[in-house]
Amino acid sequence: MSAATEAATQPLPENLVNEKLVRWWFLAALTYLAISMLGGILMALQLIHWNPFTKIELLSAGRWRMIHTNAVAYGFIASAFLGMLEWTVPRLTMQRVLSDKLSYFIFFAWQVVVCSTAAGIIIGPSLQDQEWVANLSASLHLPMNLGAQGLEWGETPFWIDPLALAGLALVGANYMTPIARAKGPMYVTLWYFMAAFVWTFLTYAMGNFLPEYSLQGTSAGAVSGLFIHDLVGLFVTPLGWGMMYYIVPILLKKPIWSHGLSLVGFWGLAFFYPLQGIHHFLYTPIPMFLQYGAIISTIAVEFVVATVVINFVGTIWGDGRKIVKDIPLRWFYTGMIFYFITCFQCALQVTLTFQKLIHFTDWVVGHAHLVMFGVFSMWIFGMMTYLFPRLLGRQWASRRLCEWHYWLSAFGVFIMFLDLTLAGVFQGYYWSSLQPWDASVYGSQPFWITRLFAGLMIFSGYCCFITNLYYTWRSPVAETAPATNPELSPA
Ligand code: HEM
Repeated sequence: MSAATEAATQPLPENLVNEKLVRWWFLAALTYLAISMLGGILMALQLIHWNPFTKIELLSAGRWRMIHTNAVAYGFIASAFLGMLEWTVPRLTMQRVLSDKLSYFIFFAWQVVVCSTAAGIIIGPSLQDQEWVANLSASLHLPMNLGAQGLEWGETPFWIDPLALAGLALVGANYMTPIARAKGPMYVTLWYFMAAFVWTFLTYAMGNFLPEYSLQGTSAGAVSGLFIHDLVGLFVTPLGWGMMYYIVPILLKKPIWSHGLSLVGFWGLAFFYPLQGIHHFLYTPIPMFLQYGAIISTIAVEFVVATVVINFVGTIWGDGRKIVKDIPLRWFYTGMIFYFITCFQCALQVTLTFQKLIHFTDWVVGHAHLVMFGVFSMWIFGMMTYLFPRLLGRQWASRRLCEWHYWLSAFGVFIMFLDLTLAGVFQGYYWSSLQPWDASVYGSQPFWITRLFAGLMIFSGYCCFITNLYYTWRSPVAETAPATNPELSPA
């Protein structure tokens, strides 16, 4: 029996997990996801000239693109993972977190970080234009304006950055303490979590201080490339993989296929991932040896990912039919298939031959949606579909709505991915045939219209989930204890 399945079946000490806080994190995550998706739909409308709010500057596409990406990464994914940590770490270690008060403080501090980033993005340029702000910045020798910063994924206003970094250190302290106090061998999930605490802190520090304060030109570009990709690879990936290694064995009621392979994945990630971020800036003036290094390490990461995929295929081997009935398991394994597709695509698109065609096209946007929504958000939905009944002590009110959520999301994101990948190829050919820029914009319209409908599908799936959650919350509490009642999931 694996550590995860063993921990899940042991009687738990009282008040081990602060379930209220887990619910808060999940609700915050779902709120930010709604804001992000509405922003995505707004942008998609603007790109096909159906903008319902043409005269409102604060709703312009430039602002809402940044809100869309920030709300999804720091609002949705980070909050969902923090809720997951609050549930998983105490259960795997049989130890409480360092301090309940600290957990609440982290929760509120994180809301300040996310909301002030959004406010900075919305009002940033207008603040910068104010004379008093310009004077104040000049007299205090502030390097930035008070609003958002012009660095992709690092838009958080400069005065929030030190607070966010201190917050990340507190997150590490809060969840590392139970891990340090735990007895016995450490399960692979905890390896990933510990690494994520350290890497996320370092990645945030690298991306939010170096390019802003001490580096210029291509050096700043190289570091910002590392930052963009390390956010996915060293923050989202270890938490996502750690979560999978915890929940999948519980759902399948058997240990992970190979513990050794899971450690190969861990060390492979640690060694190769930090080197590949410059692949975002191929064909730029960044020195070629760095670009080649990024290409080679990206291809190496494909092998690392393959070990993880093989391990999860090995784990479900013989039990494949379970995904028909077990919806959380289906979310996880669909995410796994999309993961394989994303990584296969990545191995192609990282080559200079492919880059010639797809650089700066919608191909990249399709890839980003497949990995962020098709993989990590799917895993998060699997985790929430599994945990909400346990957190609320109630059955899901409607299995049908759970199914609709799954199918609309899975088809929606797959259509969006295919559509944007194709759009990218067309755009690449338009540009390489040296037609006027406008021709590529007109040529993209059918793809952008399709993207809108795919986005609406994803959003409808989300609405099914929220409706289901609302009715579940209002339904009577189940009689048997939630954590031990296997019926409390749509399995
Ligand atoms: C309601 C559905 C959605 C729609 C209509 C939508 C639409 C868009 C649009 C129009 C862009 C800007 C593309 C450009 O600049 O050309 C974008 C970017 C992006 N979206 Fe979405 N989106 C949706 C949902 C999501 C979700 C759920 C996630 C993540 C979980 C996500 C992650 C991203 C990312 C990472 C980018 C940046 C892509 C890049 O820089 O290459 N989107 N989205």
